[in-house]
Amino acid sequence: MLSSSLEKYADYLRELWACQSSLGKAKLIAMIKKTLLTGVKPTGMPHIGNYLGAIRPALQLSHQPQYQALLFIADYHSLTHVHRAEELRSMTYEVAASWLACGLNPDQSLFYRQSDIPEIFELSWILSCFSPKGLLNRAHAYKAKLQENQEAGRSDPDYGVNMGLFTYPLLMAADILMFSADQVPVGEDQVQHLEIARDIAQKFNNNYGPLLKVPEFLVQKDSKLVPGLDGRKMSKSYGNHIPLFLPAPKLRKLVMKIKTDSSPPEAPKDPNDSLIFSLFKEFASMEETEALAAHYRRGISWGEAKEALFQAMDKVLAEPRRHYEELMADTQTMDCLLEQGAQRARAIARPQLDELRRAIGLGAMV
Ligand code: ADP
Ligand code: TRP
Repeated sequence: MLSSSLEKYADYLRELWACQSSLGKAKLIAMIKKTLLTGVKPTGMPHIGNYLGAIRPALQLSHQPQYQALLFIADYHSLTHVHRAEELRSMTYEVAASWLACGLNPDQSLFYRQSDIPEIFELSWILSCFSPKGLLNRAHAYKAKLQENQEAGRSDPDYGVNMGLFTYPLLMAADILMFSADQVPVGEDQVQHLEIARDIAQKFNNNYGPLLKVPEFLVQKDSKLVPGLDGRKMSKSYGNHIPLFLPAPKLRKLVMKIKTDSSPPEAPKDPNDSLIFSLFKEFASMEETEALAAHYRRGISWGEAKEALFQAMDKVLAEPRRHYEELMADTQTMDCLLEQGAQRARAIARPQLDELRRAIGLGAMV
């Protein structure tokens, strides 16, 4: 019984593959690959923490053959707080160039600006009609604002809250549900948003049938937080970050600023208790890591350790940095790539939206 249905399935696959039309191939790819989707909010040039904690793992996943990856720039999400046109535009380019320089392959993955896919915004409205307001009242970014206002003794609990911030999770749900994503890799801070997306999809499906795919999330629980120059979590908001594509002399200068203790150069040091070593490991080979660990145990000056870290980082980052600078000097190339990505993404979004519109009762009777 099982083997006969498997045979039928294999026949079907053969038939599809034999079909030379690109439609047949696209269908086949959609059947056998899982859709991996993630969005990046433009906040300017990423830092080493963003690279090691988010960009590198997402790109590694996107290169796995079982996935069709959609990686996009969530520029309309930034509009909730970035209200200067030039700033939004340049941050968008910086993020796009960073992903491309780090190895995003725009032929293999769909790479687009969220704002270029109008279907997402129409879906966002549809979803808003299936989202109880209370669900969004509980979203953490909104709650954090309420708390901030309360602590500041403000009489208006919603002071400084625009509707974009309040409905942020809805737009994120539309980003995901538009493309029937199977898996969404995110940092832990985004898990609540994914739960909201799942909730809304289920509510919609309960009413109209299983039209929206309920996404799974991939949280990198075991991924360590990359420490910044002062030992706290590396973050733009702490000002302790190392921008990813600093020119080499500036990178060296920042690495030399990493906080260390005052132990003498000849004192043996524990590599596992060293911020410099924990960063070094991320950029060096296994042999280089073992060699530096041995040097720590014999005794190493912090200056030498920092120099080793700078060299290891520069070796990995020199080529992507060159690529980044090239892309930033020619934003038209990026516009072109993003436009092509948007066209491919819209070719998926449009029929999906049409189906949903029909299901909810819009348009003429057929
Ligand atoms: P920042 O704290 O600098 O504002 P974001 O919150 O914009 O950074 O981070 C974007 C993504 O980068 C997050 O999803 C998170 O997974 C990752 N990330 C940020 N900082 C770090 C860090 N120090 N270590 C590991 N991953 C990080
Ligand atoms: N909200 C996410 C962040 O701040 C970015 C984002 C927007 C996203 N839409 C998404 C992530 C869809 C995953 C899927 O990091």
